Formats: sequence, C-alpha cells, structure tokens
Amino acid sequence: MKALILNGSIYGHSGRYAEMIAGALQESGWEVHTLPTKGFTVKAASETLGGDPDLVVYAGGNYAGKLHHVKAFVNAAHAYTSARLVLLSVAWADPSRTEEVAKVHSANLPSDVLARTECFHARGGLAHSKVSFAHGLALKGVHAFMNSTPENKRHPNDQEMLDTWGKDTDFVKRENIEPLLEAILGQLSQRR
Ligand SMILES: Cc1cc2nc3c(=O)[nH]c(=O)nc-3n(C[C@H](O)[C@H](O)[C@H](O)COP(=O)(O)O)c2cc1C
Repeated sequence: MKALILNGSIYGHSGRYAEMIAGALQESGWEVHTLPTKGFTVKAASETLGGDPDLVVYAGGNYAGKLHHVKAFVNAAHAYTSARLVLLSVAWADPSRTEEVAKVHSANLPSDVLARTECFHARGGLAHSKVSFAHGLALKGVHAFMNSTPENKRHPNDQEMLDTWGKDTDFVKRENIEPLLEAILGQLSQRR
C-alpha cells in the first residue's frame, strides 16, 4: 500500500507531524513518500511513487485561515480519485475550538474534496524568533486585535497567545495526532 504525504509546513510544526505520520505508516508496512507541497505536481508525484497512492495525507499550517499550499492536496485528490484522503490542519488554535477548526477545513477544500476527506486538527506553535518580516507584521495585527478585545471576553486560547507573546512556543507532540493515526492504522493497542 502506497501513501503520499504532503508537507505544507513553513516553520516546521506540521512538518514534524508529517514525519510522525510517515514513521507510523512505515512501521505498519506502508510504502511512504513525503513530498513538500511547494512545487507539487501530480505528474512528478506519480513518477516518484511509481503509480497512484492508496492514501494521501496533507499536514500543513494555518496562516490567517488559509492552509498553506493546500492546493497541492486538492490537486492530488482530484487526480487520485480512489485514494483515501486525510487532512491535518496545524495551528495555534486549540482543537477544542471545534467550530472554528471545522470552518477552516470547509473554507480550504472544495465541497467534492471535503466530502471525501477525513479532517483532523492539531496544535503547532508560534516561532516568534523565526517568522519572516511579513509574518511578523501580520502577527502584530493579530496581537493588536486580541488586545482590543476586553479581557473578560477573550478566549483563553487567545489570552495564552498574548501571555506568551515574543517567546517561541511549541505544542507538537505525538498524542495530538493519535486520533488521526487511529483512523488510519487502527487502535493504539493493535499497533504497538
Ligand atoms: C502570519 C501568521 C498567521 C497565522 N494565522 C493563524 C490563524 O489564523 N489561526 C491559528 O490558529 N494559527 C495561526 N497561526 C499559527 C500557525 O498556524 C502555527 O504557527 C503553525 O504551527 C504553523 O505551522 P508550520 O510551522 O508547520 O507552518 C499563524 C501564524 C503566523 C506566523
């Protein structure tokens, strides 16, 4: 069974989840090919895989509501019509913010692809020390917006961003993607 993993990470958080997923699949006997979403083409992917994948997994960061380079996943979904599709959005947002997370999933996928995709979400982090100038400016805007919300009306997840402002945070851990791994590979007990 062949798996294509699309890595849509800019600062490495979703990239590490992509590696964990690849490792778990390989341990279970899958042939795994991980490709960056940047420059992705179906033709090159099919050549690398030597055929069509049985499973396509996307892991990528949320930037102002847009999943980075998710077009690669959409193109793969349209090309590999019999593949199982799994999407992992990675963001600051806590997975308990289910409505917002679901909105991001539905806003980033056309309805035909959304209907075929098993969607998951995990926390990434915020790499203040690494962000580009443009991302730094965008984050300043986010900070100003959150700050303008009265403290008693702020979501604790937003408060946490303000409280940790300027420090690098990292919430990546394997247990965050356990539901995804369980969906693909079965119960934890059956895998270990
Ligand atoms: C410019 C910018 C915009 C972001 N926008 C959002 C957002 O709208 N919602 C959110 O929950 N996280 C947001 N984040 C946090 C990223 O989703 C988070 O850093 C994630 O871990 C990035 O994944 P990556 O390192 O794999 O690219 C933003 C981060 C940056 C730098």
